[in-house]
Amino acid sequence: MKVCIVGASGKLGRYMVRHALDRGYEVVGVCRGKSVGKLEEFAGRITVVPGATDDREVIRRAVAGCDGVLTVLVPWGVKGYSTGTAQAVMDHAPAAARLVFSCGWHITRDGQDVYGLTFRAFVKIFGWLGRLARAVDINDQVEACRRVFASGTRWTVVRGSDLEEGESQGLPVWSRHVGDPVLESNLTRRVDFALFMVEALVNDELVHEAPAIVGCRTPSARAYAQPA
Ligand SMILES: NC(=O)c1ccc[n+]([C@@H]2O[C@H](COP(=O)([O-])OP(=O)(O)OC[C@H]3O[C@@H](n4cnc5c(N)ncnc54)[C@H](OP(=O)(O)O)[C@@H]3O)[C@@H](O)[C@H]2O)c1
Repeated sequence: MKVCIVGASGKLGRYMVRHALDRGYEVVGVCRGKSVGKLEEFAGRITVVPGATDDREVIRRAVAGCDGVLTVLVPWGVKGYSTGTAQAVMDHAPAAARLVFSCGWHITRDGQDVYGLTFRAFVKIFGWLGRLARAVDINDQVEACRRVFASGTRWTVVRGSDLEEGESQGLPVWSRHVGDPVLESNLTRRVDFALFMVEALVNDELVHEAPAIVGCRTPSARAYAQPA
């Protein structure tokens, strides 16, 4: 199995590299040139393609021959960075490749998610401040995911809850819709978010799903998760 990790140098990205190497996968990582040093611990074990993740030529080279592509979608700036990244991956990955994208609970696939007042207020204020500072454009991530949902690719969009650091607790549980009581704890270990992304590569039940995830040991998961 050969996998490309787009955004490999970030926190989520590096956890994904570790999980992929643990499984014996061949790994190609894409990250900004200035961040290549953050992948030093994997030197000799992965191939690094430096460059912006929305650079179509960089992505074309990185995803060639890959069975799977794990993409960290982050809406940096106000020039469609997320959308450009997702589109480049979809255009250049082999047709049969599994494509797994990361985002947050705020992305909705079918409008059936139910958000609390605090969550909605946070997204609105953060979105407004991000655009004002021209630092982050949440709508860019929304558009990126809209294109993924509409595509004919073998996609999964993993929607992360709030995140924390710490040892792995195991594969998060998931639901199709935010508002499901199983998600109420709204917390996942970042290492396990990465685990879910990597596991999704080989779980065909997740093709064309947008799972919202939560840590498997959180109170809501313990109370409401169905036994596997
Ligand atoms: N943080 C949360 O609480 C949270 C909650 C739910 C879901 N998520 C989702 O989780 C994913 C990643 O989250 P994370 O918090 O763990 O972040 P992360 O892995 O640290 O990812 C940040 C990524 O953004 C890149 N980046 C940073 N500044 C940039 C810039 N100015 N221009 C271009 N790229 C830049 C980083 O690359 P460099 O290494 O080059 O800096 C890295 O690849 C995202 O899809 C996010 O929507 C996060």
